[in-house]
Amino acid sequence: MRSRPIGVFDSGLGGLTVFKALAARLPHESLIYFGDTAHVPYGSKSKEAVTAFSISIGRFLEKQGIKALVVACNTASALALKDLKRALRVPVLGVIEPGVRAVGREYDRSHGAGRISPPGGAPVRARSVGVIATEATIASGAYQSALRLRDPRLRVVGAACPLFVPLVEEGWWSHRVTREVAAEYVRPLKKARIDTLILGCTHYPLLKGVLRSVVGRSVRLIDSAEETARATERLLVSESLARTTGTPKHRFFASDGPDRFLRLARRFLGVGVDTVEIRRLD
Ligand code: DGL
Repeated sequence: MRSRPIGVFDSGLGGLTVFKALAARLPHESLIYFGDTAHVPYGSKSKEAVTAFSISIGRFLEKQGIKALVVACNTASALALKDLKRALRVPVLGVIEPGVRAVGREYDRSHGAGRISPPGGAPVRARSVGVIATEATIASGAYQSALRLRDPRLRVVGAACPLFVPLVEEGWWSHRVTREVAAEYVRPLKKARIDTLILGCTHYPLLKGVLRSVVGRSVRLIDSAEETARATERLLVSESLARTTGTPKHRFFASDGPDRFLRLARRFLGVGVDTVEIRRLD
């Protein structure tokens, strides 16, 4: 069982930012990545559609023999996590809870005190948190409720940023246009005087430079990829599923567009991907 791979899925390529963090933290684990490039973007779709896509990917990955599933997509984590957990036999982990936990960790790092707590436990101790994400993630209220569950005194302000995904895929990470779009999106968050900003979408970590320049240096930027890798490690250890020796073998699947996948993968991963296998699931 320990030698089985971990499944990782996203609506497209952005989830490779989470794949990268998993591969760095768990260097002996084999990973199978599925990018639903036939249905991307999830961020403008309904809960029903995103849930149906997510479950069919989860079932496909279960058939590949995975021992756990990481939902790298924020939108799928916000809309489909409960249904996925019910539909699959393997443990399933999303990115939202780790993202919220990372708020506490970051706060502690910059203030040198405090603890990270389980839901309902000690407060995360930030005052005003901004969340930027896709339209569907913001509308679901998933981040907002997870944050308030940790600390009911938190002020949470959300903003949907639908133009960011195409801008990142275009490679315009520090383009003047992206900076202007970002300044517009974060205006209400700045007005709310946020001290922390959650990058609630797979693509946004690539815009850290631009976001830093528009929100200012005093705002903590939270990228949940690393915290998700930590949470995956904890899960594997607690379920006695961790693989601690051996060389991993990674596989990549997409539901459409192999050329685009291979071309863009390097942008998200930092290294190239040799092969992508195409599986249409509908
Ligand atoms: N992967 C999605 C997310 O993290 C962004 C792209 C999309 O809209 O599908 O929310």
